[in-house]
Parts: sequence; structure tokens; C-alpha cells
Amino acid sequence: MILNSPTLNIIYKACIKAAKPLMRDFGEIENLQVSKKGPGDFVTNADKRTEKIIMDVLTDSKPDVSFITEESGMVENSSQKKFWVIDPIDGTTNFLKGIPHFAISVAYMENNEIKSGIVFDPIKNEMFVAEKGLGSFLNNKRIRVSKQKNLKDAIIVTGGPNFSSKIKNKTFDEYVEFSKNLDSPIRKLGCAALDVAYIACGRLDGFWHNELNLWDVGAGAIILKEAGGYIEYIHDKPTDVFKRKVLASNYLIHEDMKKHLNLNL
Ligand code: IPD
Ligand code: CA
Ligand code: CA
Repeated sequence: MILNSPTLNIIYKACIKAAKPLMRDFGEIENLQVSKKGPGDFVTNADKRTEKIIMDVLTDSKPDVSFITEESGMVENSSQKKFWVIDPIDGTTNFLKGIPHFAISVAYMENNEIKSGIVFDPIKNEMFVAEKGLGSFLNNKRIRVSKQKNLKDAIIVTGGPNFSSKIKNKTFDEYVEFSKNLDSPIRKLGCAALDVAYIACGRLDGFWHNELNLWDVGAGAIILKEAGGYIEYIHDKPTDVFKRKVLASNYLIHEDMKKHLNLNL
């Protein structure tokens, strides 16, 4: 690990330990027992086990830090200001279908600010790592956002709406309207954590998504910021962690994205 950070080292250990059984499961996807948590939102044994492995490693190292996670929700330890933010598998539908595009996402947050994070894609063996003030790295190499200035030429990614969404029509309308400003069709890759990490390393230029939770892009947020990008939560209080509209970009196309998504009003 290139960054000399105790926090990142703990997260790194947790990700590496959790990835091994996850890779085995991915290899035997048809044997997984799948249960339905809610419409459009499947949770696998792999999800729960991955989260437990990560939480155990983190708790062993720092027992005082609380958790905000997708599977366990809020788990309070002695600190009310320090949180691990975990999505054990971001891209569950891809995972379940044997599509090799998903990631483990773990961030460290203090006083409502994400300080460190790792997004790990175990299939491609790509690890995105960042800490406030130390820069962003992909497999130990410094990464930067793209230099794309023109929205028309930009590669934009989005996701959703999930099956249970109450604003489906609004999201579809936004998609149609926004598409009119772009030469390339909008991507939907099914893993928000990687969407944002891909902007950080210049593969993609912009991302917006309605109704995202903190764990989806917690780690991605610091990875993007430290790579020179910009991420913001629209029309929401900063302390909200659920179902927020997120806009992320290489910074250069940010204002244009907002304009065409009618977010300047
Ligand atoms: C989902 C993914 C997807 C996004 C969904 C999320 P999950 O997370 O990030 O890209 O479009 O809104 O719920 O359920 O795979 O952890
Ligand atoms: Ca997720
Ligand atoms: Ca998940």
C-alpha cells in the first residue's frame, strides 16, 4: 500500500480478507441462496458474510468507531462522531447474474466528513484508495480526473430508478432530457461505487443518481475529491445519509450538468 495511513491500512486488510470468499462465491454463483429483502433489492449470503468479515476486522482494530452499513444499518459503538461506512457488495445485481462488475466499498467518516476510503473491484483486481490530503490511487498509481470540458463529448453514467422508487417517472424524464445534450449514450453500469471511482481515474466524466445512500458513494466521494473531481448532494441536508440525489464529475463539466439537469433553480 503506497499511502502511509493507519486508517487505510485497516480498511485495506478488511477488503482483502473479505474479497477471498466473495470471489469463491462469484465462481459458484448458481449455488448461492438468494433471499429477497425488498423489491428489486436482493441480498445474498455473500453480502451478509462479506459485511461481517469487514466489520470484524475494523472492530478488532478500532472498537470505538461506530458503523453505517447497508446490511446492519447503524451500529453504535462508543464514538458518535466516527463511523465506518460500508457497502459490502455494491453492484449486487451484477454479482448475482455473474456479471464481473461489482465492488467492496469502505469509508471512514469523522464529524460528517469522509476522510478515507477504498473501493475494491476484486474481479479486475483494481483497488481505488484515497485519504484526505494524500491524493487518490489506483493500484498504487496516482489518478486524476479527465480534462473533458464539453458536456456534449462527455461520457456520463447513471443508475436506477430501483423497483421501489417513488420517483420513477421523474428519474426517467430526467434521463431522456439529459440525454439530448450528449453525443454518447448515457451508461448504466450497475455499480455506483465504481461509477464514481471511474470518474476519479478519467475513464468517465460525470455521474448523477437519485436516491443514493451514503454507503453507495461514501468511499467514492473521497476518491473522486482527491483526484480533482467534485461531488455534491443536491437539495438535501448534509447530515442526511439516505436516498439523496448525487451529482459527481471531473469538475469541469459540473455546472453544465447542473444546468441541464435543471438543478440551478
Ligand atoms: C446499487 C448500485 C447501483 C445503483 C443502485 C444501488 P447495490 O447498490 O450502486 O449502481 O443504481 O441505486 O442501490 O444494491 O448493488 O448495493
Ligand atoms: Ca450499493
Ligand atoms: Ca450492496
